[in-house]
This record gives sequence, C-alpha cells and structure tokens, in this order.
Amino acid sequence: MKVSKLLLGLLLGCAAWVANAQIVIKFSHVVAVDTPKGKAAEYFAKKAAELTKGKVKVEVYANSSLYKDKEEIEALQIGAVQMLAPSLSKFGPLGVKEFEAFDLPFLFDSTADLHKITQGPVGAGLMARLEPKGIKGLAFWDNGFKSFTANTPLKTPADFKGKKFRIQSSKVLEEQMRSVGGIPQVMAFSEVYQALQTGVVDGTENTISNIYTQKTHEVQKYLSLTNHGYIGYAVIVQKKFWDGLPADIRSQLEQAMKEATVYGNDIAQDENDQALVGVRKSGRTTVYELTTEERLALKQAMAPVHARMADRVGKDTLQAIAKGLAE
Ligand code: LMR
Repeated sequence: MKVSKLLLGLLLGCAAWVANAQIVIKFSHVVAVDTPKGKAAEYFAKKAAELTKGKVKVEVYANSSLYKDKEEIEALQIGAVQMLAPSLSKFGPLGVKEFEAFDLPFLFDSTADLHKITQGPVGAGLMARLEPKGIKGLAFWDNGFKSFTANTPLKTPADFKGKKFRIQSSKVLEEQMRSVGGIPQVMAFSEVYQALQTGVVDGTENTISNIYTQKTHEVQKYLSLTNHGYIGYAVIVQKKFWDGLPADIRSQLEQAMKEATVYGNDIAQDENDQALVGVRKSGRTTVYELTTEERLALKQAMAPVHARMADRVGKDTLQAIAKGLAE
C-alpha cells in the first residue's frame, strides 16, 4: 500500500514536472542580428514566450554561431536544432530543386510580385515538398534584392568576365555567373568576408543588409546596385518535433510566427535602405547605380539562364510562377 502510494506520488510528480517543463526551441541562423531575418527571429522568440506564457523558450543563435550553411539543415533533420530560416537557395542541395527557381535572375520586378508567389499556391506547394524530408515549412520571410560587389566597377556584362564570384550553393546561381563570363565559387556565408579580404574570390552578390552587416563594403571597392535577384527565407521546423508539440502550444507558436512574419516582412525593405545609407556613409566603397540601359543589358545577358535551368527547377514550377505573376 505504502509502495503504491509512493509510486503514485512519483508518477504525479513526474506528470507535473512534464507539464511544467519548458520547451526549448533552438533557432539557428547565419546572418547578423541587425538584419530582417535576425530581427524577425528575435521578435518570434519574444512573441513565443509571451503567447505560451513562458512555456516555450526560443533560443536564437545568430551569425552561424551554431552551424554554417550546409550543416544547418542536417542539424535540423537530426533534431540538434528545431528551427531555421535558410535562404530559399539552400533547399536545392537538399534535393528540393524547385526552390532554386527563386535564384533565377530578374525573375521578380518587385516585392509585391514576389509575394504573389510566396504567399500563393506556389509557395504552399513548395513548402509541402519539404515534408518528405522531415521538414515542416512555417513561413516565408523577406530579405530583399541582391546587388554585386567587386574591386573593379561592374557596369556591363563584360565587367564580370574572368572574375571569381562567391555564390550560395545553387546550380541556378552557377549558371547566372557563367552567363556573364564570371567564375562561380560556392562558399558558406560566414567565410565570405575573409575570402574577399584575401582575394580567394573577387566579388560577391547579396542583399544590401547582408553586405553591410558582414562588412563586405570594407573589403570591396565597388557596389553595383543591380537588384538582379532575390534572397528570402523559408522558416522551417523539424516536423517530428512540431507534430509532437501539444496542440495548444503549437497554435500559440503558429500565431507568434504569423506576427513575426508580418513584422519581419514590414521592416525588410527599410532595413536594406538603412544599410545602403550605412554603406554610403562609410565611404569605403563606391556605390554605382546602373542606368536603365545598363541594367537591361545585364538582364539580357542573363536571360538564357531561365531556359537553361528549366529542367532543374521544373517547367511546371516555372509555369506556375508565370501564372502567379500574371494574376
Ligand atoms: C547567403 O548565404 O548569402 C545568404 O543566404 C545568407 C542569408 O541567410 O541571408
């Protein structure tokens, strides 16, 4: 009798402990805190704590402090971290090549265009393709449009010839660089500054907020505002972890994610605009704005990439994007 009472007490104690135990979500990302993604992640952490009344603690690890690009998704799949927001390009190497469609040069004219895709059926379809990989997609977060940097001016397609450019691991980006005679070099985000500083690569492409917060402008003499492509993110969680959460907690986290997405996407353009002000103020790099004709020439030089990469990203993906953009 005494023993069974003791057992019951122990069981009740355990149940109470389990009920009170804090759920920890490790959220790893590779960029600085002062970026659209960095800020949205912090906002999500705050909202998650608020809405779950402290039952969930989101620990945000910025600046590749836990994992570099390639390791991130693997870490999520084995449950070493629960949440990430990799750029859309990073799903190609995972085998979900359709995501590389977002890397196609000059695909979107504006953020409004992009949202037609990420917030419509194409976006939902792409997220669904992650599930067989044990990944659940929660939201698309914006960063912005990319520009090129180098130590020589980049105005015409000929200016890219023979130069090595760091790119993310994406076949579409490789083809993009080759289309203008550049030499693509895949490299982790955290290694770019040093590679530029030591001349391992000659140039790179990124959003202005990434260029500024990684201090790229301090080791590159020229920044050409090309807006030739886009970088944004898919916020993902390990599916097993997500499905195993108590339903009430999961819906509170969904709400926190909704609010963080609105917040992050609202500030993204401004973050990039402010970063450009910072780059200009630094006086370390010459900022060059392409004329309409120069931008058109670059667009034309890169146009064949769409057809060349159609098989990789899927003709149906391209058709769905074209349809989404036309609506
Ligand atoms: C890059 O690798 O250049 C970007 O994907 C980094 C990021 O997450 O914005």
